[in-house]
Amino acid sequence: MAVLEPPPLRHRNPFRILLQDLADERAAGVAYPPGETSFSLTRTKRFNDEPLPLLLECYQRYGPIYTIRILHSNVVVMLGPAANHYITVSHASNFIWRESHFRDLMLLLGDGLLTTDDPYHRRSRLIMLPAFHRERIAAAVDTIARETELALADWTPDKRIDIYVWTRRLALRVAMRALFGLDPDGQTARSIDAATLFEQALAFYAAGYQHRFIRGPRTPWARLQHASRELDRMIYSEIAERRRSGRRGEDILSLLLDAEDEDSQRLADQQIRDEMMTLLFAGHDTTTSTVAFMFYELARHPEVAARIIAEQKELLSGGEPSAEQLANGELAQLEMTLEETLRKYPPAWIGPRKSLQAFEFEGHTVPANAYVNYSSWASHHLPDVFEEPAEFRPERFTPEAKAALAKGAYIPFGGGSRTCIGMRFGQLEIRTIATAILSRFTLELNHGFELQIRQMPTISPKQGMPMIVRAR
Ligand code: HEM
Repeated sequence: MAVLEPPPLRHRNPFRILLQDLADERAAGVAYPPGETSFSLTRTKRFNDEPLPLLLECYQRYGPIYTIRILHSNVVVMLGPAANHYITVSHASNFIWRESHFRDLMLLLGDGLLTTDDPYHRRSRLIMLPAFHRERIAAAVDTIARETELALADWTPDKRIDIYVWTRRLALRVAMRALFGLDPDGQTARSIDAATLFEQALAFYAAGYQHRFIRGPRTPWARLQHASRELDRMIYSEIAERRRSGRRGEDILSLLLDAEDEDSQRLADQQIRDEMMTLLFAGHDTTTSTVAFMFYELARHPEVAARIIAEQKELLSGGEPSAEQLANGELAQLEMTLEETLRKYPPAWIGPRKSLQAFEFEGHTVPANAYVNYSSWASHHLPDVFEEPAEFRPERFTPEAKAALAKGAYIPFGGGSRTCIGMRFGQLEIRTIATAILSRFTLELNHGFELQIRQMPTISPKQGMPMIVRAR
């Protein structure tokens, strides 16, 4: 297994990318699918601010494959079970991630698992997979439970909390400890506020498209650079300490430090940093949103919360859930609620790709080098797949109803060779946090709270999720 360099990029400069996009479109050998292809700043802004209604309207008008022009470039959108299966599984090798219109994520993540393509991507996955095996994940329950208890220690009846902010801090501490054996209370980690830095860095992606082109002081780009440098300080100091001391554990950092190719070459610090940054980001941001959206829906559906609590009383007989119960999702009411939360609000809402070769899908051609996206969020809201999709109904996920779903209909964790590597870890974490909260507290929404969703790079509540803690 020779050490590989990350796949090359055609361009990094945003203006060169823009020119290349225009050249690719002119050179397209076949027509794009029909759609809304005129230049429109209104549409671009809408896609940036509230893409779901736009994607669904176009589905009604054009069907499961269509084109929309976002800023200067055509973007092909493919929705529904067959489209999702086509992109993620049956024809996955015709799509790359790296040149997709989410490539800006590389400014923060570098060349980690999320942002690279095969063969580099496959090799990275092989190195890290052992850390995500079922038994290793189950072993993280104690860490998650301990950190959750710590975070709950100052919850008292009538306290006001922002469950989104609260979970981000908790999920980052969990990711640091459980994935990297990194002590969040250690000297370097304590000297930075990782949760705020991630919030700052990710704000770059919520800025309008045009703002993301601008470089220079006091721009969203500059704030991203600053946050990234600070987070690097923590990551590089941990890598250096581990190399110096030889300290190893059952964590991913140990796997990365010891990975060798056939010439006994090791990964460079920068490569390890990129994988760590990717997992820290992906490992906390998605779970944070899911916990916040779950408690939002539970506050609006007390009857669902009551069923989960009744189940806790019956199965846990007042005690703690076992690691197996949590790891295997054995609390059925909680599980259905989690699945429905991930249907209605799949945090990684879009699967950005670029086509390598021209292809045909459902009677329409798509050129080579075209931006092609699948979207779990929009696919989970198609009324022909999920009846009354805006309704929150955990019973959509009874074992029988779930078995009846078409292949590719429900894809909160993506699919195929790029399926979320942290799926089991994320599910375990959400179950553990939710069970701990629900066994003691009820969370109420602030009076008059109206949910607005921010969608870059993952979907999350735009104004956080302010709630009031009530004793159960
Ligand atoms: C509710 C929790 C989570 C959801 C809904 C979620 C969703 C997803 C989705 C949809 C993808 C595929 C994206 C694509 O096709 O382009 C993905 C990939 C990924 N996720 Fe997650 N994720 C979650 C939790 C986690 C956790 C906890 C970790 C780390 C511990 C993680 C690490 C990753 C990584 C590294 C990838 C890239 C995988 C690859 O390309 O091989 N995720 N995730």
